[in-house]
Amino acid sequence: MILEIKKYPDPILRKKCEPVEKIDEKTKEIAQTMIEIQKTHQGIGLAASQIGILKRIIVVEIDNNFCVFINPKISKKSKKKEIMEEGCLSFPGLFLKIKRPQEIEVEAIDLNGNKIKMKVKGLIARVFQHEIDHLNGILFIDRLPWWKRIALKKKLKIANN
Ligand code: CO
Repeated sequence: MILEIKKYPDPILRKKCEPVEKIDEKTKEIAQTMIEIQKTHQGIGLAASQIGILKRIIVVEIDNNFCVFINPKISKKSKKKEIMEEGCLSFPGLFLKIKRPQEIEVEAIDLNGNKIKMKVKGLIARVFQHEIDHLNGILFIDRLPWWKRIALKKKLKIANN
Protein backbone atom coordinates (compact mmCIF):
# COMPACT_ATOMS: atom_id res chain seq x y z
CA MET A 1 0.00 0.00 0.00
CA ILE A 2 1.81 3.11 -1.20
CA LEU A 3 -0.02 6.32 -0.66
CA GLU A 4 0.90 9.95 -1.05
CA ILE A 5 0.28 12.71 1.42
CA LYS A 6 -2.64 14.84 0.30
CA LYS A 7 -1.69 18.49 0.15
CA TYR A 8 -3.88 21.54 0.63
CA PRO A 9 -6.20 22.44 -1.15
CA ASP A 10 -7.07 18.80 -1.90
CA PRO A 11 -10.82 18.60 -1.09
CA ILE A 12 -10.38 15.27 0.74
CA LEU A 13 -8.74 17.21 3.59
CA ARG A 14 -12.12 18.85 4.21
CA LYS A 15 -14.03 15.57 4.53
CA LYS A 16 -15.19 14.18 7.86
CA CYS A 17 -13.76 10.74 8.68
CA GLU A 18 -15.96 7.78 9.61
CA PRO A 19 -15.50 5.86 12.87
CA VAL A 20 -13.70 2.52 12.63
CA GLU A 21 -16.34 -0.12 13.42
CA LYS A 22 -14.06 -3.11 13.57
CA ILE A 23 -10.30 -3.37 13.91
CA ASP A 24 -9.36 -5.82 11.18
CA GLU A 25 -6.36 -6.54 8.96
CA LYS A 26 -7.25 -3.57 6.78
CA THR A 27 -7.15 -1.23 9.79
CA LYS A 28 -3.73 -2.59 10.76
CA GLU A 29 -2.48 -2.17 7.21
CA ILE A 30 -3.65 1.45 7.14
CA ALA A 31 -1.96 2.11 10.49
CA GLN A 32 1.30 0.53 9.32
CA THR A 33 1.26 2.61 6.14
CA MET A 34 0.63 5.77 8.16
CA ILE A 35 3.59 5.00 10.42
CA GLU A 36 5.85 4.43 7.42
CA ILE A 37 4.75 7.67 5.74
CA GLN A 38 5.27 9.54 8.98
CA LYS A 39 8.77 8.16 9.40
CA THR A 40 9.66 9.08 5.82
CA HIS A 41 8.40 12.65 6.21
CA GLN A 42 9.55 13.11 9.80
CA GLY A 43 6.17 14.16 11.04
CA ILE A 44 5.07 13.89 14.66
CA GLY A 45 1.45 13.28 13.81
CA LEU A 46 -0.66 12.07 10.91
CA ALA A 47 -4.37 11.60 10.29
CA ALA A 48 -5.74 8.97 7.87
CA SER A 49 -7.48 11.62 5.76
CA GLN A 50 -4.04 13.03 4.95
CA ILE A 51 -3.36 9.89 2.92
CA GLY A 52 -6.86 9.89 1.47
CA ILE A 53 -8.46 7.37 3.83
CA LEU A 54 -11.60 8.69 5.51
CA LYS A 55 -11.35 6.68 8.72
CA ARG A 56 -10.87 7.95 12.27
CA ILE A 57 -7.27 6.83 12.70
CA ILE A 58 -4.33 8.95 13.81
CA VAL A 59 -0.69 8.27 14.55
CA VAL A 60 1.15 10.33 17.16
CA GLU A 61 4.82 10.07 17.98
CA ILE A 62 5.23 9.77 21.74
CA ASP A 63 8.70 9.22 23.25
CA ASN A 64 10.05 8.04 19.88
CA ASN A 65 7.23 5.51 19.46
CA PHE A 66 4.64 5.77 16.74
CA CYS A 67 1.35 5.22 18.55
CA VAL A 68 -1.89 4.47 16.73
CA PHE A 69 -5.16 5.83 18.09
CA ILE A 70 -8.47 4.70 16.67
CA ASN A 71 -11.67 6.76 17.03
CA PRO A 72 -9.85 9.31 19.21
CA LYS A 73 -11.84 12.01 20.95
CA ILE A 74 -11.10 14.81 23.34
CA SER A 75 -13.12 14.29 26.51
CA LYS A 76 -11.72 17.23 28.49
CA LYS A 77 -9.89 20.45 27.68
CA SER A 78 -8.14 22.85 30.04
CA LYS A 79 -9.41 26.42 30.15
CA LYS A 80 -5.81 27.51 29.98
CA LYS A 81 -4.59 27.95 26.42
CA GLU A 82 -1.15 28.40 24.97
CA ILE A 83 0.34 29.50 21.68
CA MET A 84 2.68 27.09 19.90
CA GLU A 85 4.09 26.89 16.41
CA GLU A 86 2.57 24.11 14.32
CA GLY A 87 3.41 22.54 11.01
CA CYS A 88 1.42 20.09 8.89
CA LEU A 89 2.56 17.54 6.30
CA SER A 90 -0.33 18.71 4.09
CA PHE A 91 1.14 22.25 4.11
CA PRO A 92 4.86 21.80 3.39
CA GLY A 93 6.94 24.68 4.65
CA LEU A 94 4.11 26.43 6.48
CA PHE A 95 4.47 27.05 10.20
CA LEU A 96 1.84 28.94 12.16
CA LYS A 97 1.46 30.06 15.74
CA ILE A 98 -1.82 28.59 16.96
CA LYS A 99 -3.61 29.00 20.28
CA ARG A 100 -5.12 25.84 21.77
CA PRO A 101 -5.91 24.37 25.21
CA GLN A 102 -2.73 23.45 27.04
CA GLU A 103 -3.95 20.21 28.56
CA ILE A 104 -6.50 17.68 27.32
CA GLU A 105 -7.89 14.26 28.10
CA VAL A 106 -8.02 11.88 25.14
CA GLU A 107 -10.05 8.71 24.79
CA ALA A 108 -9.38 6.22 22.01
CA ILE A 109 -8.92 2.55 21.15
CA ASP A 110 -5.57 0.97 20.32
CA LEU A 111 -4.87 -1.56 17.57
CA ASN A 112 -5.64 -4.44 19.95
CA GLY A 113 -9.05 -3.01 20.70
CA ASN A 114 -8.12 -1.81 24.19
CA LYS A 115 -9.64 1.38 25.50
CA ILE A 116 -7.19 4.16 26.20
CA LYS A 117 -7.76 7.22 28.33
CA MET A 118 -4.90 9.62 28.86
CA LYS A 119 -4.14 13.11 30.05
CA VAL A 120 -1.62 14.94 27.94
CA LYS A 121 -0.19 18.44 27.83
CA GLY A 122 2.24 20.59 25.91
CA LEU A 123 3.46 19.31 22.56
CA ILE A 124 1.65 15.95 22.72
CA ALA A 125 -1.66 17.65 23.55
CA ARG A 126 -0.99 19.93 20.62
CA VAL A 127 -0.43 17.04 18.20
CA PHE A 128 -3.60 15.25 19.33
CA GLN A 129 -5.70 18.37 18.85
CA HIS A 130 -4.23 19.04 15.41
CA GLU A 131 -4.76 15.43 14.24
CA ILE A 132 -8.27 15.05 15.68
CA ASP A 133 -9.16 18.29 13.88
CA HIS A 134 -8.04 16.62 10.63
CA LEU A 135 -10.56 13.79 11.24
CA ASN A 136 -13.28 16.44 11.29
CA GLY A 137 -12.04 18.19 8.16
CA ILE A 138 -10.60 21.07 10.19
CA LEU A 139 -7.15 22.36 9.26
CA PHE A 140 -4.73 24.38 11.38
CA ILE A 141 -5.24 27.45 9.19
CA ASP A 142 -8.87 27.44 10.44
CA ARG A 143 -7.61 27.97 14.00
CA LEU A 144 -6.00 31.30 13.16
CA PRO A 145 -7.78 34.52 14.12
CA TRP A 146 -9.94 35.55 11.13
CA TRP A 147 -7.81 38.49 10.05
CA LYS A 148 -4.69 36.32 9.87
CA ARG A 149 -6.67 33.63 8.07
CA ILE A 150 -7.79 35.99 5.32
CA ALA A 151 -4.25 37.22 4.72
CA LEU A 152 -2.92 33.67 4.67
CA LYS A 153 -5.59 32.38 2.27
CA LYS A 154 -4.68 35.14 -0.19
CA LYS A 155 -1.06 34.10 0.08
CA LEU A 156 -1.86 30.39 -0.37
CA LYS A 157 -4.04 31.11 -3.40
CA ILE A 158 -1.18 32.95 -5.04
CA ALA A 159 1.13 30.06 -4.21
CA ASN A 160 -1.28 27.54 -5.74
CA ASN A 161 -1.52 29.32 -9.08
CO1 CO B 1 -1.76 18.34 9.83
